[in-house]
Amino acid sequence: MAAKAIDDCMVAVADRLRRAQHVCCLIGAGISAESGIPTFRGPDGFWAGRSAFDLATPEAFARDPETVWRFCLWRRSQLVTKRPNAGHHALVAIERLVPQFTLVTQNVDGLHRAAGSANILELHGNLMVDRCTACALETQAATDGGFETIPICPECRAMMRPGVVWFGEMLSLDAIQKADAAARSCQAMLVVGTSSVVHPAAGLAEMARLHGAFTVEINPEETPLSRIMNMCIRMPAGEALPAIVEAMNSSDRG
Ligand code: OAD
Repeated sequence: MAAKAIDDCMVAVADRLRRAQHVCCLIGAGISAESGIPTFRGPDGFWAGRSAFDLATPEAFARDPETVWRFCLWRRSQLVTKRPNAGHHALVAIERLVPQFTLVTQNVDGLHRAAGSANILELHGNLMVDRCTACALETQAATDGGFETIPICPECRAMMRPGVVWFGEMLSLDAIQKADAAARSCQAMLVVGTSSVVHPAAGLAEMARLHGAFTVEINPEETPLSRIMNMCIRMPAGEALPAIVEAMNSSDRG
């Protein structure tokens, strides 16, 4: 896209966000790609050459908890060195510029919180949380090593499990109800860095569109939801989101 067309596009999105009472953002793994965390699908994704059914289902955990934990502990060891990027920081800026903001993320990496986002719904849980398989106690995982040992509950000594949602599991009812309400009530939704193939998250963008929100997809690639979006920005999140913030700040001054 030519520079002038990109500028016009950012100004148009900024204008919509500025006029919205409530902005909702639906986020996927693509935003963290620029922090060095692989996405899930595609040739370099987490699921390339791996079976999600052997690593991320309740059945796999019941059958072979060690393999499931080993995968999770490896992901944790990768995650602790990663930092939020310009895309995460831009979302923090947008949250501060609009009256109401809901960030619905499918990511389990905790980078939105690290960047400073406040109103976050973690639909798929958090990789750095342990939950007891017996008493449901939740604890924060250690970030300074210990990536070899399966955690044991400090209260009841049962095996912990990772605090993420596996395939075939229910999402937290509270989180999905709040996300659904945000999708229905927002006037603008940014759909960032998600392949939009995993439900119920993907359905939130359709819900927002159905309820009249202006929907914008930020993703270098086309997705199954591209055709229902009001606008698609084919750029990396770390470039597009800061440009939108800049346009919002300029319109503020102008
Ligand atoms: P995917 O790996 O399915 O999709 C990542 C998307 O990010 C793709 O559409 C890419 O084109 C896009 N992308 C890559 N780099 C980008 C960048 N720099 N800026 C913007 N977009 C970029 O990841 P998700 O859609 O998040 O679930 O996957 C959804 C769920 O499936 C995950 O939460 C996980 C996974 O299996 C569970 O673990 C339950």
